[in-house]
Amino acid sequence: MLKKILMLMIVVNGLIISQALKSPDGRLEFDFMMSKGGIPYYTLKLDKEYVIKESALGIMIKDDPGFIDELAIVSTQNSNFDETWQPVLGEQKEIRNNYNQFTVTLQNIDTKKEMSIVFRLFNDGLGFRYEFPKMENQRYFTIMGEKTEFRLTGDHKTFWIPGDFDSNEYPYMTSKLSEVDAEKGQGFFEISTRRIIAHNAVQTPLMMKSDNGVYINIFEAAVTNYPVMHLLVDKSEFSLKTAFAPDAVGNIAYMQAPCSTPWRTIIVSKKAENILTSRMVLNLNEPSKISDVSWIKGQKYVGIWWELHVNKSSWNYSDINNIKLGEIDWSKVKPNGRHGATTERTKYYIDFAAKNGFAGVLVEGWNVGWEDWFGNWKENVFDFVTPYPDFDVKELQRYAASKGVKLIMHHETSASATNYERRLDEAFRFMKDNGYDAVKTGYVGRIIPRGEMHDGQWMVSHYFRVAEKAAQYKIMVNSHESSRPTGQSRTWPNWISAEAARGNEFNGWSRGNPPEHETILPFTRIMGGGMDYTPGIFQTKMDYYTTGSKFQVHTTLVKQLALYVTMYSPLQMAADLPENYERFPDAFQFIKDVAVDWDDTEVLSAEPGDYLLIARKAKGINEWFIGGITDENEREMEIAFDFLPKGTSFTAKFYMDGDGASWDENPMLYKIETKTVTSESKIKVKLARSGGVAISIK
Ligand code: NOJ
Ligand code: CA
Repeated sequence: MLKKILMLMIVVNGLIISQALKSPDGRLEFDFMMSKGGIPYYTLKLDKEYVIKESALGIMIKDDPGFIDELAIVSTQNSNFDETWQPVLGEQKEIRNNYNQFTVTLQNIDTKKEMSIVFRLFNDGLGFRYEFPKMENQRYFTIMGEKTEFRLTGDHKTFWIPGDFDSNEYPYMTSKLSEVDAEKGQGFFEISTRRIIAHNAVQTPLMMKSDNGVYINIFEAAVTNYPVMHLLVDKSEFSLKTAFAPDAVGNIAYMQAPCSTPWRTIIVSKKAENILTSRMVLNLNEPSKISDVSWIKGQKYVGIWWELHVNKSSWNYSDINNIKLGEIDWSKVKPNGRHGATTERTKYYIDFAAKNGFAGVLVEGWNVGWEDWFGNWKENVFDFVTPYPDFDVKELQRYAASKGVKLIMHHETSASATNYERRLDEAFRFMKDNGYDAVKTGYVGRIIPRGEMHDGQWMVSHYFRVAEKAAQYKIMVNSHESSRPTGQSRTWPNWISAEAARGNEFNGWSRGNPPEHETILPFTRIMGGGMDYTPGIFQTKMDYYTTGSKFQVHTTLVKQLALYVTMYSPLQMAADLPENYERFPDAFQFIKDVAVDWDDTEVLSAEPGDYLLIARKAKGINEWFIGGITDENEREMEIAFDFLPKGTSFTAKFYMDGDGASWDENPMLYKIETKTVTSESKIKVKLARSGGVAISIK
């Protein structure tokens, strides 16, 4: 299987090629090279055309020459790998992990310290990482940056959000690479403190398309104990260099050998669809560290949530402020009369969940501290165990159990990670004692320890510490405002989902997410794992709640249905208020029916920024769901049902935009038609401006 061609002493652009490697299907080609000055380089080609031109590699180490130049090859090694594994929850039942590998061990000729670079060439792209053996003179060291480059072949079309080490909640911008300007990347009202790194800084995954139709996705995998990779665009050269969040004293990453960096990934294809079906990022993560996974379950949930965001009720119980944890007798505090998380209201959601088959009920604002949680950069905001006086934890445990529903815990940390870590055991024990087995975490605001950032090494490690401890307690985690996932659901399958990008919530209280937003997220944020986007908002215009409000969801109602299929997440919220679902019971049926865990996924057609059409087969049963969405343009989609087994007729329920519907006019207009389909069927459907189509097939 392995085609190993050793081409010693072939010189290209002054670089000596020391190894060429082909992908298992032979279409991708990778070269490793050394310059005369001992600098390592690599290239990547698809069908003999460059995707990445000669790009430097290297690691900068504090108070040490590091691994930048003056490097010599000590040894090389080739191997290949082919296995099929089963994710606990996923977009498909089985995932093939097949690559050819090349490892080069380099030595700094002065210090004699060694570093290996491991390259894995898959059919869908290249992954590589730096590895550091433990040596006499190399045990603890501090990385100050990487020399890693991605030199592109032209001024590609780029889907980007500004480089900000503290927030990924931005709407995507689309421009030529040379026109990237992070300062212009806000576009929409921002709630987080913007901390743009530089004018030319962008976040990853970075999705690009070349003029000749090659799709390139630059990202990373298995980011643990290392900061998140951001990129600096060199606009004249069309090249990308790495940037990492420094810690409070200006260092990037503390390492203890033997150790390695995360994998840098380049996924490439002439078909946009193949970017979405690439499982390279997952494949580059370690197998599950949890042996008994029987308690990890995909699920749909409802919750006391959207009513808080549309200001129908409040997280806080009272209007006092400047509270100090533990110093207040809450039974004496005057309630503001607007508190959302009451025992009674929670029972109403439990009843609604039980009636409609949802497994979980999230309750936000149940615990003391919300009076001054926001914007104060205060260490001790929440203790995660003290309910407000009108939230009866024991009674709700009893009530939820009697209805066969589980409550989902909410731990907003207000970014005080130190406080959270101190209280984590107690908080998880409290959950277990009270019947909770899933937690939504949140990190709104500036990080404590002060000087750390959301994307820095310390915080990345924090999110993992939480997931690992949660696993010990058999608790599933859904993180918001964490750094974006990089495939770690393979290793920690209890880290079931994350927001970690600009979610649907922004539509409730800001200029929101433009119509193309959801067509880009699968090519960017969701490359690393499921996203808790919180779809399903039926009441799209917010003047329903607040007279004169201009805020609105920038989709039709039907597009909100389609998002359950296009936005992969094994944890999906039916985010709107029960009252609103009761207004549209026939449309709500799709949310009740749709699966969250899948045997198979087929991307029928896709173009980032424009449209998506995805079909998925539910795990273990003969049911399929299709979601199609479009950007601000209306569109006709022809759906071929050839993914269905041959020779059987199925009943398909089509949820379509109503005639005259669009995201801005009549967004809630829809029609539902039932048709018989077979694998031979081809059916055309019209999608409104920022509309969609959702189909359930049984
Ligand atoms: C931001 C989260 O994304 C949202 O879901 C949550 O309701 C608020 N923070 C409050 O924790
Ligand atoms: Ca958020």
